[in-house]
Amino acid sequence: MNKLFLGDTFEILPVLKDESVDLIFIDPPYFMQTEGNLIRSEGTFFDGINEEWDKFGSFEEYDNFTIKYLKEIKRIMKKNASLWIIGSFQNIYRIGNILQNLGFWIINDIIWKKSNPTPNFKGTRFTNSHETLLWVVKNKNAKYTFNYKTMKYLNGGKQMGSVWEIPICAGKERVKTNGKKAHPSQKPEKLLENIILATSKPKDVVLDPFMGVGTTPAIAKRLGRKYVGIEKEKKYFDLAKKRVEEEKVVENPLYKNVLDIKPPKVKITDMIKKGYFKENENFLDKDENFIFKLDKNGKLQGNSIHKLSAELQNKINFNGWEYWYVKRDNKLVSINKIRKEYWKKETGYEHINRCNRQYCHI
Ligand SMILES: C[S@@+](CC[C@H](N)C(=O)[O-])C[C@H]1O[C@@H](n2cnc3c(N)ncnc32)[C@H](O)[C@@H]1O
Repeated sequence: MNKLFLGDTFEILPVLKDESVDLIFIDPPYFMQTEGNLIRSEGTFFDGINEEWDKFGSFEEYDNFTIKYLKEIKRIMKKNASLWIIGSFQNIYRIGNILQNLGFWIINDIIWKKSNPTPNFKGTRFTNSHETLLWVVKNKNAKYTFNYKTMKYLNGGKQMGSVWEIPICAGKERVKTNGKKAHPSQKPEKLLENIILATSKPKDVVLDPFMGVGTTPAIAKRLGRKYVGIEKEKKYFDLAKKRVEEEKVVENPLYKNVLDIKPPKVKITDMIKKGYFKENENFLDKDENFIFKLDKNGKLQGNSIHKLSAELQNKINFNGWEYWYVKRDNKLVSINKIRKEYWKKETGYEHINRCNRQYCHI
């Protein structure tokens, strides 16, 4: 754990144990098939992806390469692990097809909309201003992690959608050698932040088998996850190693999934035993129209707190914790408030209704 490997992913992946990884991010060679030099409108060369590791002899060769690593990845994924793969129009359809053929189950395809895309210099087609991410799990039955509330919070309180607008990696975050960008396809930190926060838990193991200059392990470390990274080019590996070493773990309750941790189940009978409620005490609705006595089985004169609250309101179902009150010092107190006290004192779980601004540095 917390290791970066210099070497060929096809030699290192087989060494990893079966069902040992919780989250995988793959930014594979795209097989861009670019030919000749790209020249900007002002006459300078554009430094695109023209590297040996992105070259393949044919689609068949690329597909075999993809199938080979995906089979290994499936073996090392835990039962409920998530896998994310990013690609562009050149490769993402081939990868999607292969994933489905191998039995993976697609949860979402996410569009990464680039707010500052590289222009189409020749003006011969639309500017490629997005890339696609596929979020998949091992099979249809996987009970994957999805931190819905955390992502909603990060999206300003609105359910997060499948189009993420994020600028391409630039400025301080871009890893450089001698003042020039070190890697042609370094991914933005925010992309990895979204992926890791949405689909993993603290201390989960995050793997990147084509890590480049280490964006995935660096962000995994920052967010309090464990990491494993593999890269075969020494120049990238060295930069990744330095970057991850320099990265600091950021303490933030949001990264500990406080918003998504499910509260422990509470039984009213346990609350009676611990003195939070008394047998035979009155449970009332907020207008004090109905009064029922609590029996020793945690029921209201034989009825469940939920069913009875639903019936009294002519509803099919209702959460009784939000309906009933008891009297304390002659004042009405919600039983939900008392449950929160019980959670905090007896289980250590702290209920958070609304996320506090302080949780979010982004
Ligand atoms: C698209 S880049 C990943 C960039 C990375 N996401 C980042 O933000 O820096 C793909 C990387 O995979 C590496 N690579 C390609 N084939 C590999 C292999 N067989 N084993 C290990 N690394 C490989 C390349 O050297 C390249 O750095």
